[in-house]
Amino acid sequence: MTEMETGAVTDPAPAGAVTDRAPDAVTDPAEGEAVVDRAAEAVIDRVMPSTGGVIPKGRAGRAASASTASGRPVEPGPAVELAGVAKVFNAGRPDEVTALDGVDLTVGRGEFVSLIGPSGCGKSTLLRLVADLVPPTGGTVRVADRSARQARRDLAYGIAFQQAGLLDWRTVARNVELPLELRGLSRRDRQGKAREMLELVGLADFAGHYPDQLSGGMQQRVAIARALAVDPPLLLMDEPFGALDEMTRERLQDELLRICARKGTSALFVTHSIPEAVYLSDRVVVMSARPGRIVEIVGVELGERTEATRQSAAFFAGITRVREALRGTPARSAPPAGADQAAAGAPA
Ligand SMILES: Nc1ncnc2c1ncn2[C@@H]1O[C@H](COP(=O)(O)OP(=O)(O)OP(=O)(O)O)[C@@H](O)[C@H]1O
Ligand SMILES: [Mg+2]
Repeated sequence: MTEMETGAVTDPAPAGAVTDRAPDAVTDPAEGEAVVDRAAEAVIDRVMPSTGGVIPKGRAGRAASASTASGRPVEPGPAVELAGVAKVFNAGRPDEVTALDGVDLTVGRGEFVSLIGPSGCGKSTLLRLVADLVPPTGGTVRVADRSARQARRDLAYGIAFQQAGLLDWRTVARNVELPLELRGLSRRDRQGKAREMLELVGLADFAGHYPDQLSGGMQQRVAIARALAVDPPLLLMDEPFGALDEMTRERLQDELLRICARKGTSALFVTHSIPEAVYLSDRVVVMSARPGRIVEIVGVELGERTEATRQSAAFFAGITRVREALRGTPARSAPPAGADQAAAGAPA
């Protein structure tokens, strides 16, 4: 995949910063992977609310409006709207792959929607279509009431994908600062925000380290900090917590929900974890094996998430519903249901 195709953003100033390594080979390691979060809000304020341990959930408690990076107000309407979307890779060639077919999906403003399905069913492809990193071969993709292309130009979303996609020659802090630099924030504001975000993901002590001095999970936490740093109105996240230990994962799930609730952020979130999908989401979209289609959309009504939610009967009922929907799909390479069950501690 070329940089042109992905719209990957290269580091605008890889050289010269005193905290950076000498960029003797200045090649963006994230070429082919968009690395920079795209967000709309120009004014960055503190993202950590005090919610007294209760995480608001549901659209009613969320803000309904946002603005673009250029200050243009966003029209009221869905955060994401997919109609009849298809994606065929390598059309007409022997290696042709139909990744997605006939996908209709709407993500409302402030709604948290998860995608779950067997490996290779097109979840990442769907996110890439929304992010305008690949074009659809059929149907339409609208983001915040405009074309996906325009939404990308307007910096209308933040992304954290399967690979952390950090810039090796930048310190951890300066990786988090990168999207803030692109938005023209002052150095002081950038540094303050980066510190805050690194504290959030538990990496304050590693601000001066370089990505290759961190474990895979730590790198992923840096990518999450970078995605959240700009308070985007829409988050596109592709298994962002996959490499994390269970306790960190649960803590970051809670922080993510707090941030989304406070900011009215909409989210399209890919995961292989049924409990994670149920805990985070207003709706869980269950997809079939290739070609990826939506087989069921499971609504989740758990109300405000608290410490007790993960132990509640309603939570386990949601897990069971999603698992049953997944089992109904041709599970060519689906994760074993037992693994999810064990992870959730759900009754058999
Ligand atoms: N750039 C590409 N060129 C050709 N085929 C591709 C490309 N990207 C994805 N595919 C194919 O599209 C299908 C869907 O891939 P995708 O990465 O979207 O799956 P996924 O659901 O995210 O899988 P996983 O859960 O393993 O991450 C796969 O068969 C994959 O091989
Ligand atoms: Mg994927």
